[in-house]
Amino acid sequence: MDVLPTIAQVRQARRRAGPLGFVPTMGFLHAGHLSLVERARAECGAVAVSIFVNPTQFGPNEDLSRYPRDMERDLRLLRDAGVDFVFTPQPAEIYPQGFEASIDMGAVTRVLEGASRPGHFAGVATVVAKLFNIVQPSRAYFGQKDAQQCVVVRRLVRDLDIPVEVIVAPTVREADGLAMSSRNSYLTPDQRAEAPVVYQALSAARTLFDAGERDAQALRHAMLAHIATARLADPDYVSVADPQTLAELDTVEEGALLSMAVRFGKTRLIDNLVLPPSPEPRNGGLSA
Ligand code: PAF
Repeated sequence: MDVLPTIAQVRQARRRAGPLGFVPTMGFLHAGHLSLVERARAECGAVAVSIFVNPTQFGPNEDLSRYPRDMERDLRLLRDAGVDFVFTPQPAEIYPQGFEASIDMGAVTRVLEGASRPGHFAGVATVVAKLFNIVQPSRAYFGQKDAQQCVVVRRLVRDLDIPVEVIVAPTVREADGLAMSSRNSYLTPDQRAEAPVVYQALSAARTLFDAGERDAQALRHAMLAHIATARLADPDYVSVADPQTLAELDTVEEGALLSMAVRFGKTRLIDNLVLPPSPEPRNGGLSA
């Protein structure tokens, strides 16, 4: 496995590779990242990963300086996973002196995470566009846990005609339902014990939907009521939204995106769940 810190080295490695699967990451890898790598391995001739803690997607009061890092362990995991090359740039490689570009992907970036973290998605869209231009993958793999990021990246590729197929893979969870995230490492033991309430709240809303509830506000209330059972959990938002536009819904539709952000002390966890289509009528929809 080649570890390549410069754009020039990546361009050279890219020329040698055929169809390339790409997993962009900020490092401190967990089973969720590795599931994306595994999928890329199965579907593409070669696999590239980037490890870059992108400063422009962190707000001034966010966790950039304390974001967890362990390059040695990450590289070991990626070598074992059969990755062909890893791009490990320093910030100056991506943002040289005089860099001023920023990609605004519009309305979908101003709600949910974008409302709580102004500028976050401009940072994500800009760095992902740069990484796509540098690595030039055939396919790029993202986790459903960052649902809004997936919407933004799909639009980025569509609006800027970037020739990359975006694949979104299911969220990988701990045994108790907590979505895997590098930020879980910030949780104290007490916070970690309560953190599964996030997925439980989403699941409670899904149970209501399965039972026929179609009032989106009822689902939001159910999620908030569930979170309120955890002493250390402080909800930032709960949402029932259209999966493409991310606009809040009045009436819940199949495929709607349930999502939330919840603070445990200084740590902010996000998670989501997509409501399934209604089951086909047993008789195939034909009247008896
Ligand atoms: O999901 C992440 O880890 C980051 O947002 C990404 C896509 C690597 C861009 O910095």
